Amino acid sequence: MGYSAENYRAVKETLERRRRAAIEESERRRAALHMQSPEVAEIDRALRRTGLSLFRAACEGGKDSPAFLRVVEENQALQESRAALLASLGLPADYTEVHYTCPACGDSGYVDIHMCACMRRELTLAGFRSSGLGPLLEKQTFESFSLDYYRADPQNLRLMERTLSMAKEYAEGFSMRAGNLIFFGRTGLGKTHLSTAIARTVITRGYDVVYDSVPNILADFEFDRFKNGYGAEPPRADKYLEADLLIMDDLGAEMTTAFSVSCIYNIINTRLSAERPTIINTNLGEDELQERYNDRITSRLLGEYRPLVFVGEDIRRQKLQ
Ligand SMILES: Nc1ncnc2c1ncn2[C@@H]1O[C@H](COP(=O)(O)OP(=O)(O)OP(=O)(O)O)[C@@H](O)[C@H]1O
Ligand SMILES: [Mg+2]
Ligand SMILES: [Zn+2]
Repeated sequence: MGYSAENYRAVKETLERRRRAAIEESERRRAALHMQSPEVAEIDRALRRTGLSLFRAACEGGKDSPAFLRVVEENQALQESRAALLASLGLPADYTEVHYTCPACGDSGYVDIHMCACMRRELTLAGFRSSGLGPLLEKQTFESFSLDYYRADPQNLRLMERTLSMAKEYAEGFSMRAGNLIFFGRTGLGKTHLSTAIARTVITRGYDVVYDSVPNILADFEFDRFKNGYGAEPPRADKYLEADLLIMDDLGAEMTTAFSVSCIYNIINTRLSAERPTIINTNLGEDELQERYNDRITSRLLGEYRPLVFVGEDIRRQKLQ
């Protein structure tokens, strides 16, 4: 469970690059400063010496010994004249310090053993990118989901209020034991919109989410099946089996073949056995599901997936008017 290993590795590398760049930048500033001001260069050499003396005095006499206190004073005096020199050059006292992007963790991603907020943020952004949802994540949120489009019929409105509140509850309480959802409804009623909103919330909570339409998912399985084994890239379809949450959009939009049916069964069954939650969207009704897929698939969809219904008038059309 948790962030995908690939994203984790990529984020660690990004942070490490940042960290190195910050250190190199501070070394460049220091070298340039030493060229510009030989006095500062001399003070920096002296400071290095007092650093060593401090260590030696602490080892020999302890931190209360007169020798130690003398070096501390010397060190302070050097720091002060250095700051004054920098000020006379119009530079801040910390000019040659390393300026990390995140001072809290020094761009290491961790504060002690805890993951830093900056790393968590980067992982979330990486999760948005790798989810397959792209720009939809910004547009199709819970906030932009309006119940106004369903008001024409009070019964529809009540159903959609329930659908929305169940979707929110699912997203906010998501865990690997959240179970599965199936969204039923005709075209343009908000199934993809609410799935995207759930994805955003779940990614932000630190889970690895993968979204795609069933035809695209099947294309990846097909690709793996026919690719040349020698020097091949890693399987494209593993992510659908392994993601913490998989969102399969448009079940029923694919061309039905023995291969498509066996892939869909494989995904559904593997994820159920591994207790990995899945959300499926479909325009098909229960009867159409029964007609198109074998009992082993429909029995799982109808028995293990909580149904949420989408009703009303096509919102794509309502928005045009
Ligand atoms: N309740 C809503 N409030 C605001 N916009 C909505 C709402 N429901 C849907 N939309 C918008 O209407 C368009 C169609 O919705 P969506 O893609 O979610 O429909 P769908 O049920 O997935 O349809 P299809 O079955 O054709 O895939 C999208 O642009 C979506 O953002
Ligand atoms: Mg859709
Ligand atoms: Zn940090």
